[in-house]
Amino acid sequence: MTANLEAEAGSAPQKRLFIKTYGCQMNVYDSERMADVLRPLGYGVVDSPEGADLVVLNTCHIREKAAEKVYSEIGRLKELRAEDPASAGMTIAVAGCVAQAEGAELMNRAPAVDFVVGPQAFHKLPELIARSSRAKGQRLEADFSVEEKFDALAGAKARRRITGAAAFLTVQEGCDKFCTFCVVPYTRGAEFSRPAQAILDEARSLAEQGVREVTLLGQNVNAYDGIEGGLAALVRALAKIEGLDRIRYTTSHPRDMDEALIAAHGEVEALMPYLHLPVQSGSDRILKAMNRAHTADSYLRLVERIRAARPDIAMSGDFIVGFPGETEADFEATLDLVRAVDYASAFSFKYSRRPGTPASSMPDQVDEGVKAERLARLQALLETQRQGFNASTVGRTVPVLFERKGRYDDQIVGRSPYLQGVFASGPASLIGQIAAVEITDTNPNSLSGRLLDQTAVMEPA
Ligand code: SAH
Ligand code: SF4
Ligand code: F3S
Repeated sequence: MTANLEAEAGSAPQKRLFIKTYGCQMNVYDSERMADVLRPLGYGVVDSPEGADLVVLNTCHIREKAAEKVYSEIGRLKELRAEDPASAGMTIAVAGCVAQAEGAELMNRAPAVDFVVGPQAFHKLPELIARSSRAKGQRLEADFSVEEKFDALAGAKARRRITGAAAFLTVQEGCDKFCTFCVVPYTRGAEFSRPAQAILDEARSLAEQGVREVTLLGQNVNAYDGIEGGLAALVRALAKIEGLDRIRYTTSHPRDMDEALIAAHGEVEALMPYLHLPVQSGSDRILKAMNRAHTADSYLRLVERIRAARPDIAMSGDFIVGFPGETEADFEATLDLVRAVDYASAFSFKYSRRPGTPASSMPDQVDEGVKAERLARLQALLETQRQGFNASTVGRTVPVLFERKGRYDDQIVGRSPYLQGVFASGPASLIGQIAAVEITDTNPNSLSGRLLDQTAVMEPA
C-alpha cells in the first residue's frame, strides 16, 4: 500500500483515496476513472480505508442485498472515523447506482456521508470535494449528463493511467429496455453511445500503455450506435489498433444481436469466442411479463446462428428465478433452455423486489423458500455445464494472456480466449504477453496448463 502510494506520489503532497467498488464492470471502470479525476488533486489510491482522506463507496442498486451493503459499510466507516485518530479527517462519499436511485434518502438515513455523487456526475468530484466540509453539510450531485461526463474525462488532467494487460472501456451507458424487474434504466438513464473517435483514442492510449485486451462495456453494449454499422463496426475498427490483440464486450441484449455482429464473431480474429447473452428465463409467459422482447425459441435460434458463425464460442448468461407468477412449469422451461444451450458460465439470481419497478407490484410474488430451492436446482445444472466445458478444454492448446503472478513462486495466471482463469509455471516476464498453453487439468474455478513455447505469441484458436 505504501509502495503504491509513493510510486504515484512524485513530489506532490499525497492524499489517500480508498475506493470500494460494488456491482458490475461499469462500476469498476467508473472507479478507475474517479481515481483519474482525483489524481491531479494529489490523491493516490490506497487499499484500505484506515487513514484515508477520502473514501468513495461506488455502489450497486440491482438487488436489495447489494443496496443494503452500503449502509453497513457506512456504519463501519463512521466508527473508524470516530475511533481511529489517523482516520479522523476522512471524507465519506457515496457514488454509483444507490447514489442515483436513493441519494436524498441515503443522506437522511446516513448523516455520516459527506456527499453523494451519481454515476453520470462523478467528473464533478473535484468540485464536490472542494465544497464539502463537515461544517457545510451534505451535498447531492445526481444529474444525468453522460456526454458532459465523457468530455470532462477526456481532458488532459484526467488522463487515464492503467497498469494491467486487460482493461475495461465503457462505450455505451444506460438502458431504454425497461425490463419490469430492473432498476438500471432509472439509475443509469437513457441509452447513450460515446462517439467512436473518443473510444478509439482511449483504446490507442491503452494499447500504448501495454494493454492487450479490452472489454467494451455497456448496459446494452450491442445497442451501441456511435458509429455507422454499430458495435460490429466499432469492433472492426478497434481490431486494427496495433497491440490490441483481444476484444470482448459485455453485456448484450438478445434483441440487439444483429447479423453484422454475429458475422464479426466469425471474421474478426481479435474478437474473443465468449459471449455473455442474458436470457433471464426459459418461459415465454414469464419473458413477456419481464418485457424482454424475446422468446425462448428466438433466443435458441439466435444462439444457433452465433454458433454457426463461431462454433467454439463459449456462451454465458444471466437468469432470474422466482419472478412474480413463476410456476414450477415456467421454471422447468428455464431448465430446458439451459440444457439446450449448454452454458460455459452463468450468473443466476433470486428475483429481488425493487421499489418503483413494475414487477415489484405484480401479484403472485414467489415465496422466498421456493426461490431458494429453484435457484439451487438451476445452479447445480449450470455448474455441471461449466465443469463440462472446462473439462472439454483439457488437452487443447490455447493462447493465454498472462495478467499477474500467482500465489506460488514462478506461478503466473492468465485467461484463455473463453475467459477461463489459467495457471501455469513460467517467468514473470510473460505477464502482459500472450503465450501458448496446453491445458492439463481442471480446478474448481480455473484450469492448469503447461507453457509450450515461452516466446510464442499465439493467434486465437
Ligand atoms: N443489461 C444487462 C444486465 C444488467 S443487470 C441485461 O439486460 O441483460 C445484471 C443482471 O442482474 C440481469 O441480467 C439480471 O439477471 C439481474 N437482475 C436485474 N434485476 C434483478 C432483480 N430485480 N432481481 C434479481 N436479479 C436481477
Ligand atoms: Fe435491466 Fe433489462 Fe436494461 Fe438489462 S436490458 S439493464 S436487465 S432493463
Ligand atoms: Fe449495479 Fe448499477 Fe451496475 S445497479 S449492476 S452498478 S449498472
